[in-house]
Amino acid sequence: MSPLINPDIREAQTLPSLYYTDDGLFSKLLAAFSGSWHYAGHERQLTESNVLPLDHMEALVGEPMLMTTDGDVRCISNVCTHRGMLIASEPCSAQTLRCPYHGRTFGLDGCFRNMPEFEGVAGFPSPSDNLASFPVHRWKGILFSGTNPTGFEGCIEELQNRLEWIPIENFEHDPSRHRSYEIQANWALYVDNYLEGLHIPYVHADLHGSLDYDDYRTELFEGGVLQIGIANEGESAFDLPESSPDYGERVAAYYYWLYPGLMLNFYPWGLSVNLVVPLSVNRTRIIYHGFVGNKSMLGKGAGGDLDKVEAEDQEIVETTQRGVDAGAYDRGRYSPTREAGVHHFHRMLTKSL
Ligand code: FES
Ligand SMILES: [Fe+2]
Repeated sequence: MSPLINPDIREAQTLPSLYYTDDGLFSKLLAAFSGSWHYAGHERQLTESNVLPLDHMEALVGEPMLMTTDGDVRCISNVCTHRGMLIASEPCSAQTLRCPYHGRTFGLDGCFRNMPEFEGVAGFPSPSDNLASFPVHRWKGILFSGTNPTGFEGCIEELQNRLEWIPIENFEHDPSRHRSYEIQANWALYVDNYLEGLHIPYVHADLHGSLDYDDYRTELFEGGVLQIGIANEGESAFDLPESSPDYGERVAAYYYWLYPGLMLNFYPWGLSVNLVVPLSVNRTRIIYHGFVGNKSMLGKGAGGDLDKVEAEDQEIVETTQRGVDAGAYDRGRYSPTREAGVHHFHRMLTKSL
């Protein structure tokens, strides 16, 4: 049987519209998310509070999680082992976790501590009274977690080879850069749009002025896509060290996408993390977290006005959702020079089923 997405981009047709519109397919694709690593948080998000509910994980892998630290950073379940209440609903600073329902307490490592009115209960407490814990992968201060995540080596190796020189672990969390948008479109349409620069001249006039369209490039790797934006004359760019594989180039932005919905956007000022969180077949939450490494570069170049670029993208993606919902549309074709990232994503998505 030939694959749904032809591996040869010149022959291939794009993703059938059913992938953006069908409830059953949506649920199947979402179920496959349990096999991926997802962004849990950056350690610097734990500077203000040492207990952080990760609401997005509930939507991504069906598990309400907490990130906690008492020196060691962990991802543990936010579900109380008594009768299933969620323990924390807001970020807070605490030495113990107390369930708001009947007062059961746990350590920051998730171990059961205490429960009122449980004297005489047979075999209590037991290990099943501890909060479940989830695997954590840490890379330069960024923490990834999941339920049954596998196969992340390719992504980490790619990030490490390229960005080893950036002190991401020391970036400051900037809560003023936090955003949470709900858009009326399928999550994969949002990812499609992110993965190509073909639309930049048509949709993003200001961004187009910052980036050299001819030198914009896309690199594929196992588990993700990198797009590199090269700065136009006079626009802000990274001061790359000799150890960088891009030394000598005027890089304005590294746009990393890791399957399924994580975007790590590196600009001369720092890092903008975008999370794509599917809510239903045609509703998606987009969450932004900002981490600043070099304040003097804020507001400049390709990473200068992210709110404007986001609004432009959201309008396009929501309107495209109406198009793919229509009977007149099913599939299109790819630009081999500009849509290799979208093609790569569609191949991963169809293979995940
Ligand atoms: S549900 Fe948590 S103490 Fe009862
Ligand atoms: Fe865009």
